[in-house]
This record gives sequence, structure tokens and C-alpha cells, in this order.
Amino acid sequence: MEATKIFFERHTIRKYLDKPVSKELLTDVLKDATRAPSWANSQPWEIYVASGETLERLRSAYLESFENYEPHKQELSTPREWPEYIDKRMKKSFAESFKSMGIVRDDEIERYKNWKNNYQFFGEPVAVFLCLDASLTHWSMFDLGMFANSLMLSAKAHGLDSAPAASSVSYPHHIRKILDIPDNQKIIVGIMIGYADLEHPYNQYISSRTPIEEVVNFRGM
Ligand SMILES: Cc1cc2nc3c(=O)[nH]c(=O)nc-3n(C[C@H](O)[C@H](O)[C@H](O)COP(=O)(O)O)c2cc1C
Repeated sequence: MEATKIFFERHTIRKYLDKPVSKELLTDVLKDATRAPSWANSQPWEIYVASGETLERLRSAYLESFENYEPHKQELSTPREWPEYIDKRMKKSFAESFKSMGIVRDDEIERYKNWKNNYQFFGEPVAVFLCLDASLTHWSMFDLGMFANSLMLSAKAHGLDSAPAASSVSYPHHIRKILDIPDNQKIIVGIMIGYADLEHPYNQYISSRTPIEEVVNFRGM
């Protein structure tokens, strides 16, 4: 698949088929991701892959925390307030995605189901958790972001779908314990991987983008 096609065909997939992903295929995808550039080739990423019985244990632990309204304990902070112009983009995207799923604002049951789907890792067969040594700085976070996008684009090129999900790292204590992640590593984000259930209403939304003129400032060209 040519690169530009992959950029436009990768979407966040929020429901997966009950179809396993082979370790060989996933290894090829991970190998591609490690070609991402990094500060002085430091390759700071520490990767943990959960599947099969391990992922089921994680899902059960998450379900219990979710149903008990346990507060989120993500290891990265989020802005207290987003700049207004960015907040507008996010609100537009939320409104469009809920509309495409056919979920209206006061339908609490459907909204709860949708929320819970996040905490069940969208039913995918593989969860890849990206971690970083806790002593590293924003530069390594930048590198990890490039790794993450390479991973998702390579997955698409190999016929797989993906979802980056902050919700998947809401209860990092479960991930740390079940996947045996050392305390000196921060659990940054999870990327879900599998085969999309293309018929599912959660997968009908194709997100739009702000026009180039609004985000790119050409100077001298
Ligand atoms: C760091 C990060 C965290 C995200 N967390 C979530 C999440 O918790 N739940 C979710 O449904 N989507 C999550 N997303 C997916 C974004 O909503 C999605 O990338 C965005 O709306 C653009 O849509 P697209 O990926 O289909 O192009 C996350 C994306 C990123 C990059």
C-alpha cells in the first residue's frame, strides 16, 4: 500500500473482530516501528504486548475498577484547560463521532456502554503498551510519539487496524502488575491492535481535519 493511501486509511478503530493476530505478523509491524527516528538513536521505547489470557486478566481488572468508579491514575497529566481554539476542535470531533454512532446527548445508557468499551480496550485481541524510563524528558516523549504513529501505519499496511487509547492506561497499577513492568518505567499509552469490525456503528466515523491554511504558516513560499 502506498504511503499516502495508508495515511488516509488509518482510522481509530473502536470495535474489533474476535480474530487473533499472529505473533509473526505483529513482530513485523513492531520491527517497522523501531525504524522511527529518535534523539541520537537513543530508541527510548520500552514495549509490552498483552494478548490471550494476559489481556483477559487485564480486561477483568479494568472492568472491576471501571464499575467501581475508581478514579483514573494516568501517569501523564492532561491540561487543566485547553486553549479555546483547540477545545473547539475536540468538541466538534466528539459531536460528530457521537452523531455517527447514533448516540444522542441524553441517552445515558448508550453513552455508558460507549464509555465502558474504552475500558474494555475496544474488544481487541492485542494491546501494546508504550513505556519510557521515568528519568527521560519531552524529547524522548517526542520519539515515542513517532514510534506510535509508525506502529499504527505499519499495522494498516499489514492489514491490521489500531486505536491509540489514553483510556487504556487509566489504571496503570493493573498494567504494571499483570505485565510485570518495573517501577522505573512510566506507562505512557496503549495502542490496541486487531481486525476491525467494519459493520459496527462505533467504526463508522471518519474524523475530519482542520484545513492546512489554519495550521500551517508558510513564510517566503
Ligand atoms: C494519545 C492519544 C490518546 C487517545 N485516547 C483515546 C481514547 O482514550 N479513547 C478513544 O476513543 N480514542 C482515543 N484516541 C483517538 C483519537 O480520538 C483519534 O486519534 C482522533 O479523534 C482522530 O481520529 P482518527 O485516529 O480516526 O484519525 C487517542 C489518540 C491519541 C493520539
